[in-house]
Amino acid sequence: MIFSIRMGSLSKIDKKVLWHPFTQQREWVLNIHESPLVISKGQGNYLFDSAGKRYFDGVSSLWANLHGHRVPALDRAIKLQLGKIAHSTFLGLTHEPGIRLAEELLKMVPQNLSRVFYSDNGSTAVEAALKMAFQYHAQKSGGRARPVYLSLKESYHGDTIGSVSLGGIDLFHKKFKPLLFRREAALSPHCFRCPHNQTKMNSSFYEYRGEKPRPGDFRKETGCRWECLADAEKILKKNKGKVAAAIVEPVVQGAAGIYVAPPGYLWGMSWLCKKYDALLIADEVATGFGRTGKVFACGQEKVQPDILCLAKGISGGYLPLAATLSTEKIYRAFLGKYEDFKTFFHGHTYTANPLACAAGLASLKLLKERLSGASFMKSIRALRSGLERLSRMSQVGHVRQAGLMAGIELVQDKHKNLSYAPAARAGKKICMKLRTEGILLRPLGDVLVLMPPLSSTETEINHLMGKLEHVLAKRI
Ligand SMILES: Cc1ncc(COP(=O)(O)O)c(C=O)c1O
Repeated sequence: MIFSIRMGSLSKIDKKVLWHPFTQQREWVLNIHESPLVISKGQGNYLFDSAGKRYFDGVSSLWANLHGHRVPALDRAIKLQLGKIAHSTFLGLTHEPGIRLAEELLKMVPQNLSRVFYSDNGSTAVEAALKMAFQYHAQKSGGRARPVYLSLKESYHGDTIGSVSLGGIDLFHKKFKPLLFRREAALSPHCFRCPHNQTKMNSSFYEYRGEKPRPGDFRKETGCRWECLADAEKILKKNKGKVAAAIVEPVVQGAAGIYVAPPGYLWGMSWLCKKYDALLIADEVATGFGRTGKVFACGQEKVQPDILCLAKGISGGYLPLAATLSTEKIYRAFLGKYEDFKTFFHGHTYTANPLACAAGLASLKLLKERLSGASFMKSIRALRSGLERLSRMSQVGHVRQAGLMAGIELVQDKHKNLSYAPAARAGKKICMKLRTEGILLRPLGDVLVLMPPLSSTETEINHLMGKLEHVLAKRI
């Protein structure tokens, strides 16, 4: 009773004083489709609301959580660091957790990367990468600027103006167009809605499998003519000498609606960047730290990006932290006498926060054990078999998966591939039904996003898939 009174008054205050991200406040305040859920604690792969109801954290607290909540090793590492210091600046000072985490990260990322530049969220990791690429070219070529960036049509790299400039999701980005710098957009590698529609990948379930794929293999297998790579090549060729960098979300374009690329695309992009002398930025903010089944998605195709952006899972999903990693060649272009002004004048107050770095170090240790254990692979397999079943359902148009990352696209008419009208709020309605079943998901339009913690067990995944099947069996 006391609990529910407290929850009621808290959500009342919330509605009076807060403005939530990516939330239509009118719906939130009037309880239309949305209704405030006050989360009061977490344990393992579950969140609890202030009435004590338990929910499976099916989106890993926005794609960040790796090992669940209240993980003893992570809690201990943070407490230990808290006993020393919570925060000191990284501008002109340094500290042990920041140094040790960088050292560990460099053992796990592609070998060509040798420098770690910290910040505090995914957007700033990308922002730093963009500026790094721009300044690198200018300093290497006696001040000649390269003002063009290549990104993919439906890409998402964050919400700061630089990262929005690279984005291509109209709903989020179009309004800001007058503020944005120039980017050239290449066709996204999304076979399900490919305008050229050459492949045999339009079956309703697609799972990415890495294992050293090459574009030629996929061509042989499917007849695809790689129009998406050809589009990127056209842009790189036309703008040769002007492109600072091409940026991709390796293997999965998350916010686009979990677009899972065909095997070989990433390798092809990397090859094109070398051919046309553009830097390759891999934005692994969402795909990093085991999400796609390998530590980093770049590792699926043995690709070595020039710059790598990391955030979300870097601290195990506990605290804000991000990193932009570069090659030694890029780093060296910033060296000189102070008065040469080659310094990278970029940084944030909470860059390399020591508590977050301590959590990151503890998380990496757990991650290594997790990725080599049998239980993680079992969970991926359980997800696959559940998704295969769902893909046959009448309201499901397409299902795509890479590791423990999946998207389920709802359609009004499966045979015509007809989407629901936005006002139908199909994705939202399904997620609200799942909430009453003790599952928390957050859709991207009509794509249900499944991103459970890497610590999810086979039983938990089977339970999640069972609940989805149950809810999707009824008409929206
Ligand atoms: C690929 C990618 N890049 C960048 C970001 C931005 O990260 P943040 O929300 O931490 O700013 C996201 C967030 O979802 C992302 O998916």
